[in-house]
Amino acid sequence: MTAATPVARLKQVRKSATTALKKAVDRVAFTATPPGMIPKVRRPDFEYAKDMPMWWWDNDPVRTLLLAALSSSFPPGERFFIDSVRHYQDRITDPELQKAVRGFIGQEAHHSREHEQLNGFLQERGIDLARLEKEIAGFMNVLRKNLSPERQLAHTVAVEHFTALMAEEFLLKYDALETMDPRMAPIWAWHAIEESEHKAVAFDVYKAIGGSEFVRVTEMMAVSVLFPLFSTIHLVQLMKEAGELGNLKAWAGAANYMFGTPGVFRKLLPSYFKYYSPTFHPWNHDARDLVEKAKKKWLGDWA
Ligand SMILES: [Fe+2]
Ligand SMILES: [Fe+2]
Repeated sequence: MTAATPVARLKQVRKSATTALKKAVDRVAFTATPPGMIPKVRRPDFEYAKDMPMWWWDNDPVRTLLLAALSSSFPPGERFFIDSVRHYQDRITDPELQKAVRGFIGQEAHHSREHEQLNGFLQERGIDLARLEKEIAGFMNVLRKNLSPERQLAHTVAVEHFTALMAEEFLLKYDALETMDPRMAPIWAWHAIEESEHKAVAFDVYKAIGGSEFVRVTEMMAVSVLFPLFSTIHLVQLMKEAGELGNLKAWAGAANYMFGTPGVFRKLLPSYFKYYSPTFHPWNHDARDLVEKAKKKWLGDWA
């Protein structure tokens, strides 16, 4: 066996370096929002059929009521997100980011309107979302009164990371939408798509106003306790009210879905932890292919 010549070795080194660089670029798709990424405001108007099954997600009370609990949090939560971003709107000088903020506000405002309708529909079927909505609105008011505007925006940035993860890695990546009643799936598809589209707007505003890393990270820690805690408490309450609390088969099935196979929550943990990196940017994870596919499938003419 002959030793490699210096030229051959150099070629080998260059090849390895190129491969490593390519892998790094693939892993970190973007360190900033891609140019022209302005959230598009769509104004669909969903209707809900009276004969829709009670457990419209895969005939499963746990998953259906988990989404119902989340739906109750959207109107008060999204109002808070809009206000926390709007507070700094005058300080944004970048015209692209100004446009993105207008798109973000338009999208979130319309999500709230549509989820109010959905919540009304579920309320009529005996799922008491009005009480949850009132409770969450009260909690958001406590945050408004007690947190600085910077921390309120950091709160929005943290929850937006959660919603983007849920949209991309929970609703769009697996067969969640396909296993829902086809008359219920479109609102969740639309909301998930738009959450992915505007996932970096609050973050970019936070960076533009010089928001602190300490506040960003510590607020995520607080959100990471509060968000799952509230969601679990509300889910248990709704299951109890529906007379399904002792439905062990449903609890086991949902636990397996979240943490076993496919294990959607378990699998999104690595993406969640990336938030704590000082180099984190929501577009480090580029889900545009997934979103484009979902737009074609679920949004039709108003994609
Ligand atoms: Fe939203
Ligand atoms: Fe959002």
